[in-house]
Amino acid sequence: MTETPFHLHNKTILVTGASSGIGRQVAISASNMGATLLLSGRNSAELEKTISLLSGANHKIISADLLLQHERENLANEIPMLDGIVHCAGTVKPFPIKFLDQKKLDETLKINYEAPVLMMAAILKNKKLNKNASLVFLSSISGQHPHKGGTLYAGSKAAIESFAKVLSLELYPQGIRANCISPAMVKTPMFDQAADEMSKEEMEKHIGKYPLGVGLPEDVANAAIFLLSPAARWITGINITLDGGFLLIG
Ligand SMILES: NC(=O)c1ccc[n+]([C@@H]2O[C@H](COP(=O)([O-])OP(=O)(O)OC[C@H]3O[C@@H](n4cnc5c(N)ncnc54)[C@H](OP(=O)(O)O)[C@@H]3O)[C@@H](O)[C@H]2O)c1
Repeated sequence: MTETPFHLHNKTILVTGASSGIGRQVAISASNMGATLLLSGRNSAELEKTISLLSGANHKIISADLLLQHERENLANEIPMLDGIVHCAGTVKPFPIKFLDQKKLDETLKINYEAPVLMMAAILKNKKLNKNASLVFLSSISGQHPHKGGTLYAGSKAAIESFAKVLSLELYPQGIRANCISPAMVKTPMFDQAADEMSKEEMEKHIGKYPLGVGLPEDVANAAIFLLSPAARWITGINITLDGGFLLIG
């Protein structure tokens, strides 16, 4: 029997945002598929919790506030050679346009766009990507389907989608691929935050627009594993939508 290409054996993968939600599940699922994980985030206690949930050995935590240049550089220095990155760190802060100001703009754009761009710059300068590595960035359906109040979030996600395409263009000579995953609502602390900001009726109406229900972190992790695995070796510069049918009827 030939070996399945849907595996992560002998792959070392960095996951940002590994202290919570989608990032935590990506790390757990990737370890179940045979990968060695580098877990990054700011909250050490939550990163310790994630590492305790992983299969296999030799996983490592590298804490970093990705807003800080010296912490990004430290991360880029400390990591071993990587076969993949899943960038999950991010935030969502909806505001109507008339309430926007420089501070609010910076709060979202710095973590959702500047941080991954500058982190990738540091990793590339340190030559820490193996040939044929796979880079995965968490976007959102908002990147292509903006919503009211979504100036900051939708704009930052559209920007990360463009960045992933530029990475694909610059890195294909080394066989390195870069792709995005764009989920609709997924049950994580970010989902709970959105639920707190809507009335119960609004939330129920929104959830009712998902033919297959709202997503689970496992649904996103499975797509990330596919993109990281040898099975996706011909896929670069694309954006996979995961929405349970929401955009069909939403
Ligand atoms: N949940 C959804 O419905 C949904 C839908 C579409 C797209 N997404 C995207 O998926 C990604 C993960 O979302 P999630 O739902 O898993 O969110 P989450 O549970 O709120 O987790 C956010 C993560 O970002 C990290 N983070 C925030 N600021 C950071 C900083 N300055 N430096 C380093 N890490 C930082 C947090 O780690 P620390 O607190 O430890 O720093 C945390 O691990 C995000 O990019 C989000 O936009 C989510």
